[in-house]
Amino acid sequence: PIFSQDDYKKAAAYKAVEFVQSGMVLGLGTGSTAKHAVDRIAELLRQGTLKDIVGIPTSKKTYDQAFSLGIPLSDLDSHPVIDLAIDGADEVDPHLNLVKGRGGSLLREKMVECVCKKFIVIVDESKLVEYIGGSGLAMPVEVVPYCWKFTAVRLQNLFEDTDCVAKLRAVGDDGEPYVTDNGNYIVDLYFKKAIGDLKVASDRILRLAGVVEHGMFLDMATTVIVAGELGITIKNK
Ligand code: A5P
Repeated sequence: PIFSQDDYKKAAAYKAVEFVQSGMVLGLGTGSTAKHAVDRIAELLRQGTLKDIVGIPTSKKTYDQAFSLGIPLSDLDSHPVIDLAIDGADEVDPHLNLVKGRGGSLLREKMVECVCKKFIVIVDESKLVEYIGGSGLAMPVEVVPYCWKFTAVRLQNLFEDTDCVAKLRAVGDDGEPYVTDNGNYIVDLYFKKAIGDLKVASDRILRLAGVVEHGMFLDMATTVIVAGELGITIKNK
């Protein structure tokens, strides 16, 4: 192919940054796609094309990237209203519902992206799915470390009818638990079938004590920008 997957990620990211205006408070996403958007915002600030931007990073990683590029940064305590957030996703369904958090930053992403006036999701076409869970990859759930096995079993039992498998996310060869920016663990849920009503599934997950947040972002994206072989497509809610 002439274009790599990373070229598509970059194309979607650059397109999204066209919606950024001077003076905005911006939610800065996390992941390999969002990274391109942060780079581009910094470039436009350096050029003077954009001015007076305040960035609200959704992870320590994005904080470090944006800080090193000189983007003025703040947080939700000081800037509770966000004009626009730009972030990647792991799955996008036809209703613009998302799975996020394979990079592990779902909690801060959701805290920021559920209060923004506009939320632009940037993906290459490989992220489009027919239904949530349809990629066969994980739907992450952030849980407190205390008795995580107990919580993982309860999560798996919630979705018994989809032959769900719950796995603790681990890092390295010795299988150490992956620890989020908030000091929690991630239990990855693998569904074998569609999970039905997503809102009901979301409520059931969030009602389990021990669960902090999950990676389904329902009815949150206002726009999805998809880049692929056929160019750029913009889907609006
Ligand atoms: C981070 O926790 C995730 O939600 C990312 O936003 C998502 O995984 C997309 O990442 P990529 O752009 O690297 O695929």
